[in-house]
Amino acid sequence: MFYGVSYYPEHKAQAEIEHDLALMKELGINIVRMGEFAWCKFEPREGEYDFTWLDPVIAQLGANGIQTIVCTPTACPPAWLVEKHPEILYVDNRGVARPFGGRRHYCYNNPVYREYSHKIAAAIAAHYADNPYVFAFQIDNELAQEGTGRCRCPVCREKFQKWLQAKYGTIAELNRRMGTIFWGQTYDHFGQINLPVNTIEPNTAQAIPAYFENPSLRLDFERFCSESNIEYQNSQRDAIKAYTDKPVTTNATGLATNSIDYFKAFQGLDVYAFDYYPSLRDGAISSFPYAHARGVCRKGFWLLEFVSGGGHGLWGSGRLQPYPGALRQAAIHAFAAGADLVAHFQFRTFPFGAEQLNYAIVDIDGIPRRRFYEVQAAARDLKKLSPILKNSHFVNEVAVCFDYESLWALKIKPIARDFNYVDFCGEIYHRLVRLGVGVDVISFGRDLEQYKVVIVPAPMVMSDDAKRRLKHYVYSGGVLLSTFLAGVKDPDNLGIAESLPCGLTDLFGIRVGEVEPVVERTAATIALDTGAGTVRGGNKYWAETLEPNGAELIGTYADTFREGLGVISRNSYGSGTAYYLGTGLAPELLAELLKLALQDGSVSRVPFAVPEGVEVLARKYDQRNLYCVFNFRTESTAVELGQNFFDVLQGSPVGERVVLPPKGYLFLLEEAQN
Ligand code: GLA
Ligand code: ZN
Repeated sequence: MFYGVSYYPEHKAQAEIEHDLALMKELGINIVRMGEFAWCKFEPREGEYDFTWLDPVIAQLGANGIQTIVCTPTACPPAWLVEKHPEILYVDNRGVARPFGGRRHYCYNNPVYREYSHKIAAAIAAHYADNPYVFAFQIDNELAQEGTGRCRCPVCREKFQKWLQAKYGTIAELNRRMGTIFWGQTYDHFGQINLPVNTIEPNTAQAIPAYFENPSLRLDFERFCSESNIEYQNSQRDAIKAYTDKPVTTNATGLATNSIDYFKAFQGLDVYAFDYYPSLRDGAISSFPYAHARGVCRKGFWLLEFVSGGGHGLWGSGRLQPYPGALRQAAIHAFAAGADLVAHFQFRTFPFGAEQLNYAIVDIDGIPRRRFYEVQAAARDLKKLSPILKNSHFVNEVAVCFDYESLWALKIKPIARDFNYVDFCGEIYHRLVRLGVGVDVISFGRDLEQYKVVIVPAPMVMSDDAKRRLKHYVYSGGVLLSTFLAGVKDPDNLGIAESLPCGLTDLFGIRVGEVEPVVERTAATIALDTGAGTVRGGNKYWAETLEPNGAELIGTYADTFREGLGVISRNSYGSGTAYYLGTGLAPELLAELLKLALQDGSVSRVPFAVPEGVEVLARKYDQRNLYCVFNFRTESTAVELGQNFFDVLQGSPVGERVVLPPKGYLFLLEEAQN
């Protein structure tokens, strides 16, 4: 297990490096990540490589038992390169080239830039392949971050036209499948096709009314850009792999998604890695991105950048400092949730540049304060926990399907102002966790059979294959819960001229009747029959009425003009059960519905009550259950365990009741059955 920091020796004079390295040794860490923005140091003039600024740092860290991850610096093409080849610049959705003077100012499709990127990656890999202190390589930095994943330069335009031609063959076929007859947008040949102007990228303004452009063309553009970014990433991977077998990865932005399909992107890399900056002041840390990470890589993931503190901030506002104990807890929580490596961003506050005065582990004056001591304490705990974490793993019985195509389609044509696909998946995830259930977040492509219950939130775009697999899963005994919007569109992002949920009416035993968004004044009360009684709660986001066609209606509208109409159904299909939920539910009501599905699937739950503000991550250590318990509250919290456990950190048994201090954590191992 690796624990450490990002570090920027290229910013520093020797005396400061000496000071910092001594502190790092004291910190008890074993990994440092370096180099991701330092192209101008690695190659100050074209073809002249220089590693003398980095080699001694790596050697000195190595001598102190600290390994290095070396990054390729392609997020920052140097001034000489931009001056020589201004055509490599990124062009945004206003048609404006991003000038030198920031970062990520390049086009990932530009062949000249790809060649330069390949060369610098190869030079770095060749130099460090056999360095015993270099443990792994990171490609670039946060691909597509800061609105750089949807380039509109001439190279991209031509490449997109070719991409469409390869996909559709003829322009007539493209016109047909995209329905370009609408608003008379029919093309005569591929050369007429523009790159869509509007974008689903975070923090990027729409340049014309967002609904103007053809949604099928837009979805293809998202796919094309995601693939292009992956191609760019993989060309660097190939450059590195020509010299070394050491792990190669890149730092994704996790569920703060940069519109790259990470399920696909990381198929070609050795480990899933991402960056995460949860707030550590009062609330809980969401483990949803970690569940997604486990779904992407099916093994331990890496956090190449992890929150380190507060103070000044990059994005126009400051960041709150962690509550005492929260930084230490956050690191241990990440490891418990499946990380094999966590590196805080970053070691010591920068005096200059766009991130001047930003958060770090050590303040600008180089004096260790509480954040330093918390990292030190986490490093100590990690040493104790490593053996048990390395030999235990997740065996979750419930999966939530997360689908990039549905996410993109819903961003291209949103259904309701307050509906956000990622948040909705997270809402379901968190409800399940609150019920003491372990959850994986997976793609539709993943083998479903290993799960007892599968949940598909708003699966708007579905392939025939995905539908077949869902049916097969339920037919052979699985429990499925789909929410509203199931199978509304085909992979061309067209509505299907059939009853909803298209291709799935037999599986769910219903047809969807009327649909509409829910706004505050139209919200309804939903009544759910749990078998033990009726529970009621409000609805939100989207409302569908269900016409039973074999299924049993277990939920109905309890008021409004829809009173009595169906909204939640349960259907037996083969030897399994398929639930359909036609609206968003208030939290307590959603929990009741989830409980029904969990019961049907005989899903095991944490054997003690999990108080509000506490999270339990359950892992298996051989046949024994390991419960990692985190108190995210700023008050002490008692947990009634009801049985004896072994406290891994204390190395002693614990009784039936434990009290966790504010931001405390406990690793409880079930007693061995002999
Ligand atoms: C991102 C980047 C880092 C840094 C942090 C914010 O995650 O990868 O270089 O800018 O944001 O401090
Ligand atoms: Zn481009």
